[in-house]
Amino acid sequence: MKYYFAPLQGYTDAVYREVFEKHFKGMDAYVTPFCRVERGEMRWHDQKDINPERNQGLFTSHRLIPQIIGNTEEEVTLLVDKLHQLGYRAININFGCPFPMIAKKQKGAGILACPDKVENVLSAIKKYPDCSFSVKMRLGMESSSEGMQLLPMLNNAGLSHITIHPRLGKDQYKGEMDLQALDSFQKECKVPLLFNGDIVDQQTMEEVVKRFPNLEGVMIGRGLLMNPFLVEELNGATIDRTEKAKRLRAFLSDLQEGYSMVMNGGEIQLVQKLASLWEYLLPDVEKRLRKKIMKSRKLSDYNSNVVEALRDYKTSGE
Ligand SMILES: Cc1cc2nc3c(=O)[nH]c(=O)nc-3n(C[C@H](O)[C@H](O)[C@H](O)COP(=O)(O)O)c2cc1C
Repeated sequence: MKYYFAPLQGYTDAVYREVFEKHFKGMDAYVTPFCRVERGEMRWHDQKDINPERNQGLFTSHRLIPQIIGNTEEEVTLLVDKLHQLGYRAININFGCPFPMIAKKQKGAGILACPDKVENVLSAIKKYPDCSFSVKMRLGMESSSEGMQLLPMLNNAGLSHITIHPRLGKDQYKGEMDLQALDSFQKECKVPLLFNGDIVDQQTMEEVVKRFPNLEGVMIGRGLLMNPFLVEELNGATIDRTEKAKRLRAFLSDLQEGYSMVMNGGEIQLVQKLASLWEYLLPDVEKRLRKKIMKSRKLSDYNSNVVEALRDYKTSGE
C-alpha cells in the first residue's frame, strides 16, 4: 500500500513538506499544491514552492510530485516545460479543485464536464515520453457520469495512476462520499487507483481497503494535518501521547525555524502562519486552548500557548 501526502494549498508548502519528512516516517510521495499560469509564466509563488533548492530532501529522493492545473495545450506545455527543465519527471494533473473561481473557468473539477479540454491536456503531455503523469480527480463536477465518460480517454493516456476523491466538485469537501459511483468507476478503470478522502484513522483506512481491495495506494490530506503520526500508525506503530507531544514539539520548532527563514512579513505573519496549522492539528486538544493559539499575535505568546496545549494533550490521554 502506497501512502501519498495530498496537496493542501496554504498548508503543505515546501517548508512544511521538508520538515514533515524529517520528523515522520512512511510517506511514499508528496504532491504539491497546484502550479498555475499567471501572466504568461508559471506563477512566481509556485515557482518558489517547487524550486528544487527549497525541496532538497524530497526532490533528490524523487518523492516530490508537482501538480499543475490548466485546460489548454499551451498552458500545460508551459507548466510541464518549466518542471521538466528543473528536473522533475513525475507530474500530477489537477482535475479536482472545486473552488468556483477555478471550476467556472473549466479547470480543476470544472474540466470534468468538458471532454474537449481534457483532450487538450492529455495531448499536451504526450510530448514528454520521459515523464510520468498522474491525474487527481473527482467523480465529476455536477454528476458522476462525467468521470465515467472520460474513462476511455484516461485509460488510453498512459497515466501512471489516478487518484480519485469520490465526491463531486459541487460537494466541495463535505457530504457523503459516493462509494457506489466509485465502484462503477473502478470497474471500468484500467489505470492503477489511489483512493483519497476522509481517511483519518485506522478504522476509516480499514473501511476503504475492505471496500476497494485492489487499490495501489491512498492519498491523505487533512488526516495528516490533524495527526502527523497517522501513516506510522497505519503501518503498525504504537506511539503514546508523551512521545507524540515530544516529537510534535520538535516538529513545530523546526517549522518555526523553517518559516522564519523564508517569510519576511515580520513576527505577525510568522505567528499567523504557525497558528493556522492548529485549525487542523490535534483536534483532541481542548477547543479553548486551540483558539488561544490561533489568536496569538506575538511569537512568545504562540510558543507558551503551544506548550500549554501539548501539556493538555499529553495529560488528557493518561
Ligand atoms: C485547504 C485545502 C487546500 C487544498 N488544495 C489542493 C490543491 O492545491 N490541489 C489538489 O489537488 N487538492 C487540494 N485540496 C484537496 C485535497 O488534496 C484532498 O483531495 C481533500 O482534502 C480530500 O482528502 P482528505 O479528506 O484526505 O483531506 C485541498 C484541500 C483543502 C482542504
